[in-house]
Amino acid sequence: MKIYVPSDSAAISVGANEVAEAIASKVHDATIIRNGSRGALWLEPMVEVETSKGRIAYGPVSVEDIDSLIAADFAHGGAHQLALGLTDEIEWLATQDRVTFKRVGIIDPLSIADYEAHGGLVGLRRAISLTSHAIIDEVTESGLRGRGGAGFPAGIKWKTVAGAVSDQKYICANADEGDSGTFADRMLIEGDPFTLIEGMTIAAIAVGATEGYVYVRSEYPYAISTLQKAIDIAHAFGWLGSSVLGSSHAFELKIRVGAGSYVCGEETAMLESIEGKRGVVRAKPPLPALEGLFGKPTVINNVSTLSSVPAVMADGAAAYKARGVGRSLGTQVFQLAGNIKRGGIVEKAFGVTIDEIINGYGAGTLSGNPVRAIQIGGPLGAYFSKSQFDTSLDYESMLAAGGMLGHGGIVVFDESVDLAAQARFAMSFCALESCGKCTPCRIGSTRGVETIDLIIQGVKVEENKKLLLDLCEVMTDGSLCAMGGLTPMPVKSAMLNFPEDFTGEVSRR
Ligand SMILES: Cc1cc2nc3c(=O)[nH]c(=O)nc-3n(C[C@H](O)[C@H](O)[C@H](O)COP(=O)(O)O)c2cc1C
Ligand code: SF4
Repeated sequence: MKIYVPSDSAAISVGANEVAEAIASKVHDATIIRNGSRGALWLEPMVEVETSKGRIAYGPVSVEDIDSLIAADFAHGGAHQLALGLTDEIEWLATQDRVTFKRVGIIDPLSIADYEAHGGLVGLRRAISLTSHAIIDEVTESGLRGRGGAGFPAGIKWKTVAGAVSDQKYICANADEGDSGTFADRMLIEGDPFTLIEGMTIAAIAVGATEGYVYVRSEYPYAISTLQKAIDIAHAFGWLGSSVLGSSHAFELKIRVGAGSYVCGEETAMLESIEGKRGVVRAKPPLPALEGLFGKPTVINNVSTLSSVPAVMADGAAAYKARGVGRSLGTQVFQLAGNIKRGGIVEKAFGVTIDEIINGYGAGTLSGNPVRAIQIGGPLGAYFSKSQFDTSLDYESMLAAGGMLGHGGIVVFDESVDLAAQARFAMSFCALESCGKCTPCRIGSTRGVETIDLIIQGVKVEENKKLLLDLCEVMTDGSLCAMGGLTPMPVKSAMLNFPEDFTGEVSRR
């Protein structure tokens, strides 16, 4: 008898550990597996039992429900008010395109046997049999683009690193995941860490790197501990180390933990931080692909980018790029957060609309009030109004609509949101998190807060709005990195799409 209780942080935060303990103390003949979360966060803790028909889910389960679940013989799929039916048939999950997240919530995150039974290591074994050139061609052909924010083609970055001549090269996975409303990297690491390790190992073989680092934010203690255990297991298995799965390739992997700075997610600040220095942005060029970690050629990719690579290598570029639209190929792991009824992970092919995600999967706001605004792409992303909800979620359409996909986080707000306050927040966030290296960002963000305050107070509103737009232009054009360069995006989109909040009348709400 197998019972699955997620060990994902989100599930733990709503009592999954207590539920697991209560089940263990009362159902003695069951094996309890601590899986990752399926990503339907409003159903957590979601407990699953294995039956001859497939896995049956119950949720959200609390400790108080355990006695009645036992009385209903839930361990064999018995009827209960919390029963959700076969997990695979829950519409919210069944209609998704799970590629990168295909194993998350299904397997035991720390079992290589389970990982292999669900298609793990197929991509790496194939990569080992190929030349560096062939691996990079496959990744380039798949159309896989960076999921950290900029959407740069992964294969092209890898090609630059592969072509650099050096005694040492590195692979760095960016798991700083500082964007508001984002948690895909954490859920993947907690639910299927071997996929990230496999993606990094394939990247290492492709470019000739022998060492890798995963830079994880300190706010993710469970992810850090799960990943360290997975690295140790992969070592013992003969996957990591001097001979990757018996091949002539060597690959060692280490974790570095951040210290709470948003800008350390910027790739060059991240390199400084990994090197043990203060997280300040480096000027480019040189590109990290040529002079990165410790001055050596370095692949820097987001966790979700690297974790999509095993699927590309296992199923082939053609299968991967069969999904998506235009130059946005494959799937995006959207993360639904904020004031939303059904928050969580929605992995869909690029091209799904905002409306399908927030009103379809998300079922509207948790408060029950109408959605007024959403912010996509983290604190530097644009605010969209209802009239834009038919926009397709892909890189090009988002750009055309004045926004960006970023890391795929969507934060939902109801009618109580004040967009002038949100614009002020964007500037104050930048002032707090700026690394301080360049003036438009360091000083501009503080001037931005002051100017928005004047608008909110009704002081020379039109004049100050013009000044604010001028300041935005200076920050966009003059900042060294996207922290200062993109802060104007939430500010300008709020002004453009919600002009009624910038009239200077004391807050409407
Ligand atoms: C202020 C700032 C914060 C960033 N934070 C992250 C982050 O948390 N995770 C991430 O993967 N990329 C982040 N990025 C983007 C990285 O600089 C870089 O583009 C990315 O890690 C490259 O990987 P990708 O090509 O796979 O997206 C950030 C960029 C900026 C300017
Ligand atoms: S834009 Fe801001 S975060 Fe980026 S280098 Fe300049 S001061 Fe640092």
